[in-house]
Amino acid sequence: MESALHAHSFASDLSCSKCGEQFEIGNPQYFSTCCDKPLVVNYSKEIQLDKRELIGRENSMWRYTEMLPLMNEKNKVSLGEGMTPILPIQSYARKYGFDQLFVKDEGLNPTGSFKSRGMSMAVSKAKEFGVKECVVPTAGNAGGAMSAYCAAAGMKSTVIMPRHTPKPFQEECRLFGSELILVDGLIDRCGELAASIQKETGAFNMSTLKEPYRLEGKKTIGYEIAEQMNWELPDVIVYPTGGGTGLIGIWKAFHEMMTLGWLKNQRLPRMVVVQSLNCSPMVHFVNGNENHESYGESKANGLAVPKAFGKDLIKNVVHESKGSAIAVSEDNILKTAQELSRSEGISFSPEGGATMAGLLELVALGEVSKSEKILLINTGNASKYMDHFL
Ligand SMILES: Cc1ncc(COP(=O)(O)O)c(C=O)c1O
Ligand SMILES: [Zn+2]
Repeated sequence: MESALHAHSFASDLSCSKCGEQFEIGNPQYFSTCCDKPLVVNYSKEIQLDKRELIGRENSMWRYTEMLPLMNEKNKVSLGEGMTPILPIQSYARKYGFDQLFVKDEGLNPTGSFKSRGMSMAVSKAKEFGVKECVVPTAGNAGGAMSAYCAAAGMKSTVIMPRHTPKPFQEECRLFGSELILVDGLIDRCGELAASIQKETGAFNMSTLKEPYRLEGKKTIGYEIAEQMNWELPDVIVYPTGGGTGLIGIWKAFHEMMTLGWLKNQRLPRMVVVQSLNCSPMVHFVNGNENHESYGESKANGLAVPKAFGKDLIKNVVHESKGSAIAVSEDNILKTAQELSRSEGISFSPEGGATMAGLLELVALGEVSKSEKILLINTGNASKYMDHFL
């Protein structure tokens, strides 16, 4: 109990994900200046933490507080994110003949998507550094999440979003008091504007993987998968990939838990990247054929990321885990999200639907077997996408 009350972060330093050069953890950081690549947070390997200490801790992602980089608990900005349920997919699995099919339902997070995790961590860190203003380029969900957490922290926030993003994503940002800027084009164009606002105003820029803290929040999905599945990991995890933070984070968490001794004698899951045929740069990159044609919009707007800053890390995760990368059609994404929602009573976003559509294709290709233990990540719920379904 003592240690749970006085738990402190084991974070030790930051390093360049390419060359390993170290960066100071005590100052606000963005990305590595040596190689122009994402920075990653490292944790002391000397300190012991028994996983039994988790029992009875708060029911949020902050139960893994030693493995998060917040130094002072008073800076924590939390709205109850994390510890989303892992549910069996039942009728749909019976219909298609799967033995052990599960979904981690991230749609139950405070702003309806897994983006809450990253923003809870990154806004907390911004508060710890005395930041007064944040800016983010977003495909939709990250903007709503940042707006909510900045509201909770009493910070000013500016969100930059593609103009074609469905209205509920826009309204959510305004609801939480953000300034919303709409831009013609995809998230890469929004990123250019965010960088210039950062330069002009000094706002902290939360652009995907161009700062190291959101990744730490999102990795808690990986810790939860292990804990909630009683430390017996699935064989396959299917992840709808845009910038790749969730995928990279889950993989980082598995490695950290191995170091902590929490995953004894476990084979790590094969990690599957799913994208839309309309925008599938990561599928091409991972499979070794870059294709500059594949950069359009998607109704699964979280997947419409033409240039992922963490692309090397995404590729590593798929290759190291012996996973796969696959693209599915827009029609298939929407149809599957709707069918799954109807058969299970679980609200699937198009991105969540994409995971099932991708899984069925991999089964047809013989890359995944229906008898394996499979976990889909439903990264958000359907509520902000209703116009696509009605
Ligand atoms: C619902 C949803 N799923 C998936 C993604 C892609 O996330 P990542 O950047 O972790 O690949 C996003 C990002 O906007 C999203 O909003
Ligand atoms: Zn470097």
